[in-house]
Amino acid sequence: MPEPIISVRNLVVFYRGLRGYVHAVDNVSLDIMRNEVLGVVGESGSGKSTLALSILRILPKSARIVKGSIMFDNIDLAKAPESTLRKVRWRRISYVPQAALNALNPTLKIVDHIVETAKAHGVRDRRAVIEKAKELFEMLRLDPKRVLNSYPHELSGGMRQRVTIALGLILDPEVVILDEPTTALDVLTQRFILDLLKDLRRKINITMVFITHDIAIEADLADRVAVMYAGKLMELGDVYQIFKDPKHPYTQALIRSIPSLIGSVDEMKPIPGSPPDLVNPPPGCRFHPRCPLATDICRRKEPPLIELENGRIVSCWLYAPEEAKKVERQ
Ligand SMILES: Nc1ncnc2c1ncn2[C@@H]1O[C@H](COP(=O)(O)OP(=O)(O)OP(=O)(O)O)[C@@H](O)[C@H]1O
Ligand code: SF4
Ligand SMILES: [Mg+2]
Repeated sequence: MPEPIISVRNLVVFYRGLRGYVHAVDNVSLDIMRNEVLGVVGESGSGKSTLALSILRILPKSARIVKGSIMFDNIDLAKAPESTLRKVRWRRISYVPQAALNALNPTLKIVDHIVETAKAHGVRDRRAVIEKAKELFEMLRLDPKRVLNSYPHELSGGMRQRVTIALGLILDPEVVILDEPTTALDVLTQRFILDLLKDLRRKINITMVFITHDIAIEADLADRVAVMYAGKLMELGDVYQIFKDPKHPYTQALIRSIPSLIGSVDEMKPIPGSPPDLVNPPPGCRFHPRCPLATDICRRKEPPLIELENGRIVSCWLYAPEEAKKVERQ
């Protein structure tokens, strides 16, 4: 039986903005299972990075975890003191941030960057760190000697991205969270990195969270997929089921918006409308202004998280008709 390595429950994270509080992650609950690849997908601004930053507790100052828990090895990361978090960050759970390939220090050779990163997280054995880096570089098809002695500007985008992935794995974490690791790359390089990641997970025991706005990418890599929309978890399930039989109207729309290699452009259907303002999110189901199936109850009351068969979770009134009727009568 797969067991959760991280359990997020009722997580609420707000940012303090100029116009008020941004409801970036709002009552999200999900489990990340040991040794799985969990794909997290959703349009820009749906709260994917905020969820990741909350797990590591590396949110910007304007953010606040208002409610909820993030359990990892009996530690509630949402409330743990900094001293505990320091032992977890990078060594047990690492995060490869969005746009990390552009964040490598231009004045440091890759070898120094890697050694400094390890040192910053309490690991000072330079020789062991370099050995580990070489091993990871081999797995990621990077020439260790050349890359370690290069400055970031001497490497291509794809090479830099692979270096950032190696950095995330350098201290042998149990979980690595990759935030849009292939978004800035051309399609062929993207494909190459995805294949390397698939290969990597066959070689090392690791739990991966792979964040992307492109649901098509998850088809090939993820074991399960969590779909987020406007700070809410909309659907979660086995990758095969999600693509074969998407339950939530938003997941259905995301899948219809994937360009097909063989179909005509007319078959590709972008989702009409745009995501809501998270300072004043719509009442009821947050997807209702864009949902072709919305009814009165959707506009008034938020749907619960409904558990279907095989661990499938969906937040939509269509799957709780009896409860919806009860609420309508109130
Ligand atoms: N530092 C911040 N201050 C205020 N609001 C923020 C801040 N960072 C993010 N937000 C807002 O929080 C919401 C969620 O943002 P987040 O970056 O988590 O989304 P995302 O799904 O990762 O988007 P993207 O695909 O663009 O990376 C958005 O409405 C965003 O504008
Ligand atoms: S709850 Fe209603 S508005 Fe929301 S996705 Fe389901 S049918 Fe659409
Ligand atoms: Mg993001």
